[in-house]
Amino acid sequence: MLLLYGSVFAALLLSAVAESEFGQCGGTGWSGDTTCPSGWVCAALTAHYSQCVPGISSVASTTASQSATRATTTSAAPTAAPTVGPSHATGKTPALGWNSWNAYACDINEDKILAAANQFVSLGLAKAGYQYVNIDDCWSVKTRDASTGRIVPDPDKFPSGISGVASQVHSLGLKFGIYSDAGTQTCAGYPASLGNEELDAATFAEWGVDYLKYDNCNVPANWSDASTPPGGDWYNSNSAIRYRQMTAALDATGRPFHFNLCIWGNANVWDWGARVGHSWRMSGDASASWSYITSIITTNVQHLDSIDFYSHNDMDMMEIGNGDLTIQEQRTHFAAWAFFKSPILLGTDLGQLNSTQLAIITNPELLAFHQDTTVGTPARPFTPTSSAPTTSPPEFYSGRSVKGTHVFIINTGNATSKTFDFAKVPGLGSGSYKLHDMWTGKDLGTFTKSHTSTVDTHDTAAFLVTPARHGADVDEE
Ligand code: GAL
Repeated sequence: MLLLYGSVFAALLLSAVAESEFGQCGGTGWSGDTTCPSGWVCAALTAHYSQCVPGISSVASTTASQSATRATTTSAAPTAAPTVGPSHATGKTPALGWNSWNAYACDINEDKILAAANQFVSLGLAKAGYQYVNIDDCWSVKTRDASTGRIVPDPDKFPSGISGVASQVHSLGLKFGIYSDAGTQTCAGYPASLGNEELDAATFAEWGVDYLKYDNCNVPANWSDASTPPGGDWYNSNSAIRYRQMTAALDATGRPFHFNLCIWGNANVWDWGARVGHSWRMSGDASASWSYITSIITTNVQHLDSIDFYSHNDMDMMEIGNGDLTIQEQRTHFAAWAFFKSPILLGTDLGQLNSTQLAIITNPELLAFHQDTTVGTPARPFTPTSSAPTTSPPEFYSGRSVKGTHVFIINTGNATSKTFDFAKVPGLGSGSYKLHDMWTGKDLGTFTKSHTSTVDTHDTAAFLVTPARHGADVDEE
């Protein structure tokens, strides 16, 4: 298996000659050199980032001759890698917040970050539970400070420094997040933290950072994984160890950090992510498209056992407000992220959201399911009737919250009539139940045996289903 680059990144191999080993050689907006040194190839790791990696015979092959053991060069992974886990002073429920990347990519500055923080308050997002204001890639200058070795915030983009921005975010009652990378450079070519974990974690702690997104670009070959690690536990893979080193460094600061592993679904991260961080990306980058939404749901339903308190599959940042998703698709985007308990990090210029979009992202009942502190597990697919067809992704899900049992129905096709039998919902029986619409907050009545609703194409219905009181009126058979 080609793990370093993940099967999801269908390596697009381009030309070779020139440029630098592990340097960027392509991606959205890249105008630099697209060639690589002799013996190296340009591999598309994500849509926006291609990197020079050793020639295909040395990285992409799955032959038995390739050893998964850690490399023996000077920067090899240590044999006694840290085993400290993530802080449980934070991250019990999935993160709720905003991140700069989907809105602005590298075109960030202090004004844009603080505008988002102020909009959390003015638009009612903070009141609804949104907490994290997170800066993504491109916040620093390109070289570390020559005397201290620290990463230096870009003074043009962040005249108040990162600590100045963090304290303004904190003064609004919010939390602040930053970005680094478990390689030699970030995806956009800025200093990254592999080999500098302790210094960088201490710097972030000193600046008042509460959340770290840790990316996976520019990984030296000796820190990658060509095949299953010895013993078969991916916790002992080179990939996991790169992340474990940062977990330990964050822990050593004494400050609780919410730690997000931006590892794109590589190295079976769902098997060990909770031992290292609070959430982990399941795939490459999101796009504002229905095909992305359905494909990440399809991926995620394979790994629902990994989700519980302090342990969240990250379906990537939100695209509500971007591209041309229909309102129904935006409702599904939000509802699915909520009922799978993915982090929900808004990714747009919040000032551009209309009232319908704001109502979607502040829906109190879906947010309550997402942030429930009594039940940590997500909704799961169930088969609605005895003769139900199998679809991908599944259309019918049920889950529990402190309020009871919920049913979510995603209409992935064109037929809008959706029926489920109560007896098919785990935890319910064949009797009468009250249905409550989580989107509108309205009670719909009491129903016996089954319920049929109209769900628009690509929309998601969301219900709370509770046992009817004995003798209650029955509206529908
Ligand atoms: C990608 C990551 C994106 C964004 C970008 C920044 O690897 O998946 O979410 O952080 O890097 O360069």
